[in-house]
Amino acid sequence: MKIIITKNYRELSKKAAEIVIKELQKRPKMVICFATGSTPLGLYRNLIEAVGEGKISFRDVISFNLDEYYPIKKNSKQSYYYFMFHNFFNKIDIKKQNINFLNGETKNPEKECKRYQKKLKKYKIDLQILGIGVNCHIGFNEPGSSKDSGTRLVKLEECTRKENSRFFKTKKDVPKMALTMGIKDILSAGKILLLASGKKKAKALKKMVEEPPNKDCPASFLKLHKNVIVIADKEAACLLKKQKFYAKRKL
Ligand code: GLP
Repeated sequence: MKIIITKNYRELSKKAAEIVIKELQKRPKMVICFATGSTPLGLYRNLIEAVGEGKISFRDVISFNLDEYYPIKKNSKQSYYYFMFHNFFNKIDIKKQNINFLNGETKNPEKECKRYQKKLKKYKIDLQILGIGVNCHIGFNEPGSSKDSGTRLVKLEECTRKENSRFFKTKKDVPKMALTMGIKDILSAGKILLLASGKKKAKALKKMVEEPPNKDCPASFLKLHKNVIVIADKEAACLLKKQKFYAKRKL
C-alpha cells in the first residue's frame, strides 16, 4: 500500500487525476471502475478538464461502477446512476454502450448481480477508484463483509444511511439496501486508487492502514493487493502513526 499525503483536497484531486491521466495515456482501452460519493468529484472535474484540453479521451474506455442503492429509479437524483451521468459521463467522450451499471430498478437483484459478475469476469478491471466510508466500507461492503465476497445485495448499516442522508431529503428516504461489487471483485483489479478526504475519515483511514486485514474494517483487505495507492489529505491522515514519513516522500 503506497500512501500519499497531500496538503488539501485540491492537491489530492490533482494528484489522483495525474495518476489516472498517465494510465489512460499509456492504455487508452482501459477498463475503469468508478466510485461515487463527494470525494472523487474533484478527480472527475480534473479529468473532464483534461478531456477538454485533448490530453486524454474516454472513447475506448469500458466503465463499471462499484455500487447502487436498492431499490432506486435510475432517474432519481439520488441514484448513483444519475450521479455518474450528471457529474461525469455526460461531460466526457465515453460511449454510452461502454458504461456498465448495477441496475437498482431490477425486480430480481440476485439475477442482476449474476449478470454484473459475469460482465466483470469478461472485462478485467485495470483501474479501480475507491472512496472509504466512515465505518471503513468500500463500495457498499459494510463491516462483516468477507474478502471472498462477490457482487450481491446487501443491507446498509444505519450509520451509512445516516452519513449518506446528506444526499436525500431525510434519512428515511435513504434506501435500506444496496447492490455492490464484492471485496473479491475489487481485489481483482490491476491497480487500486483509494481517496480519503477530511477529518471524518481519519479513524477509518487509520484502521485501514494500521490494522491487519479484518472483516470489521473491510477496507483493510486492500492490504492483500500488491498495487494500491492511497491518497489522503492532511486532515484524513491526521491520526496515522507514520504521517510525517508519508508526507515527506516525494509525490
Ligand atoms: C458511499 C459509497 C462509497 C463511498 C462512500 C464515501 O457510501 N457507497 O463508495 O466511498 O460513500 O463517500 P464520500 O466520498 O461522500 O464520503
